[in-house]
Amino acid sequence: MMPKALVFGAAGVVAMLSGVAPTSAVTVTISCGAVGQELELCRQGTAAWAEATGHGVEIVSTPNSATERLALYQQMLASGAADIDVFQIDVIWPGILAMHMIDLSTYIPAEEVEQHFPAIVTNNTVDGALVAMPWFTDAGVLYYRTDLLEKYGRGIPTTWSALAEAAEIIVEGERLAGNDTFQGFVFQGSAYEGLTCNALEWIDSYGGQIVADNGRVRVNNPAAVAALTEAAGWIGTISPEGVLSYTEEEARGVFQAGNAAFMRNWPYAWALAQSDDSPVRGKVGVVALPMGEGPDAGHTGVLGGWNLAVSKYSTHPEEAADLVRFLASYDEQKRRAVVGAYNPTIAGLYQDEDVLTANPFFGSLYDTFANAVARPSRVTGDRYNRVSSEFFNAVHRILSGASTAEAALSELQTSLNRLSRGGRW
Ligand code: GLC
Repeated sequence: MMPKALVFGAAGVVAMLSGVAPTSAVTVTISCGAVGQELELCRQGTAAWAEATGHGVEIVSTPNSATERLALYQQMLASGAADIDVFQIDVIWPGILAMHMIDLSTYIPAEEVEQHFPAIVTNNTVDGALVAMPWFTDAGVLYYRTDLLEKYGRGIPTTWSALAEAAEIIVEGERLAGNDTFQGFVFQGSAYEGLTCNALEWIDSYGGQIVADNGRVRVNNPAAVAALTEAAGWIGTISPEGVLSYTEEEARGVFQAGNAAFMRNWPYAWALAQSDDSPVRGKVGVVALPMGEGPDAGHTGVLGGWNLAVSKYSTHPEEAADLVRFLASYDEQKRRAVVGAYNPTIAGLYQDEDVLTANPFFGSLYDTFANAVARPSRVTGDRYNRVSSEFFNAVHRILSGASTAEAALSELQTSLNRLSRGGRW
């Protein structure tokens, strides 16, 4: 897909903000995501820093698809361009982008870094350098319509098969009642990083893996075959064919409009589903994703999240690092959690009353967030993106009926083995 590099210089620049200029005021440019309320929250957070320091901030919005965003970043960073000082980077990218980022530990005091979840700090540390500060974390969760489960006398599904069964009943009833477009289950089925997250959840819920921690490719396993065969059965039954081109925001659009019984998404969708003008306000619950079957089945949720890194090509790294420090701080993470349901990376905020009142499931799903399953980005290092794109393309073929799970996973196993050089990466 075409990265949005061409529009980025003009239309991408969203705001230029400045406070009382210090004698050596600079303008720091930051790339922010625009999924849900991200851009607005970034605008407010950076404006507060600009106000406090007198420096200026320029915000660049980037493509919503993590896959497209990485392509854009790689293109810019490869040229050594100083256009962007602060990059919002995905939890799976430190290994891929480390060579372009400064070591933030020289700018941010250790006590502050230590407030954040140690697993994320470790994830963001490459060859001893802290290449990004944790900003918010993510885990895949299941959204459901409380009113419809009640109307049709169904409990909250704890297995995928129970979800499919409830979805079928609700779809039939709602369509008979006149909503022709009503869907059972929406998720992220487009061929991009989001599908890697969804499919790893299905596989993990059956106890399977893509790549083991020791680097061995494990994707051709019975759990993965069972999980992906089951998911393929949803397309055209409880999920629309169109789900094969959905990213996060398309799924949210359908669910928030009141046209789906269940949705897999990240926590940010909660704040929007509960907003004043949301048709499903007060009718939504959030639980851990369902389990698969078999002895190793369990509830699951893939680890996501975003971090802030400063480019090595920045001409004012000190100010850029100061902006990162400000945005990753306790107070700013609290504000983003309360307003936008972006999960903090500071453990203490999960005991904060305002945060828990705004997002009750931050408390009830703490274990899901703490034990979220990681994509194999650490073990595969700078090859992770290749692994993920081969994986999501194979899954997409299975979902669209172009291949069986057995055939696609066996081919994928062979090609990932080749890429891994026998598990050594
Ligand atoms: C969310 C997650 C991120 C993931 C992306 C996939 O933004 O935080 O880690 O890669 O979704 O779509």
